[in-house]
Amino acid sequence: MTYKNNNIPAFFNGSYMTIDQVSISPFDRGFLLGDSIYEVIPVYAGRMLAGDKHYRRLMDGLQSIGIESPYTQADWPGIAAPVLLDNEAAQLLYIQVTRGDEQTRKHRFPVEVPPTVLIFSIPFSPPVDENHLGCAAHVQDDLRWQRCNVKSTSLMGNVLAYRQLYVDGVANDEALLVRDGRVVEAPSSNLFMAKGGVIFTPPIDNILPGITRVLVIDIARDLGMDVREEAPNIVMLKDADEVWVTNSMEELKPVISIDGQTVGQGVPGEIWFQLFKAFQALKA
Ligand code: PDD
Repeated sequence: MTYKNNNIPAFFNGSYMTIDQVSISPFDRGFLLGDSIYEVIPVYAGRMLAGDKHYRRLMDGLQSIGIESPYTQADWPGIAAPVLLDNEAAQLLYIQVTRGDEQTRKHRFPVEVPPTVLIFSIPFSPPVDENHLGCAAHVQDDLRWQRCNVKSTSLMGNVLAYRQLYVDGVANDEALLVRDGRVVEAPSSNLFMAKGGVIFTPPIDNILPGITRVLVIDIARDLGMDVREEAPNIVMLKDADEVWVTNSMEELKPVISIDGQTVGQGVPGEIWFQLFKAFQALKA
């Protein structure tokens, strides 16, 4: 099957169709208010990586904002399976659940509106190259809300961080977000640093509990590494031996400079490399 953007399979409110047949109401609260939760699950050779953890986060997110999930955690994989693309080495399964189509526009809480569910999958290219070049990063104030642990589609603060990179002429670089003097996260990934052989990553108080983050922590501890859940300040981060960010699409991405200052040797480091290699084994 050759997929184009308009003929990928989709699941929409109980039915399977192609993506161009999906018709979302303009009155959907997900569209008008960003009142929805989403999930992104990496799928390698047809197999979801840590699918159970992603579905758990989806269920937790829905519960935390008071959307009643139309499906149980055990239902989701079977519902999503038919939209997976045939013969794709790597794809990202996308699930969005909104508070529903209220058939009008208002902020106030709706009564008895069934949630809207949309699922589709798109191919992606994982960073298979072990000779990763790494990226430059820039520190910014964290403009986001106070419940960043919720995987909400209201992503304006995250988008504005990327817009700032674009305005500054470094659109492909990474942003690192600072809250209360601590560097907590990137706009679409979690943060790690290593200093003197110890790995530091911010605790999940008010950041997204990234699934890649957990997998990487587990790998590191299995390899006997010391991992501490502490958020560095800017000085500590710039003084790190290694820095990298993690998410389901970019896996572990090394950061080799911050605000123009070289990190460590200015190339992806040895700890990153060990973790990157071990992470590849999880995909097999
Ligand atoms: N982003 N932090 C933020 C703010 C994120 O948006 C993401 C994921 C992560 C990493 O989470 P995970 O390891 O579970 O992918 C951390 C995804 C990829 C997205 O929004 O498309």
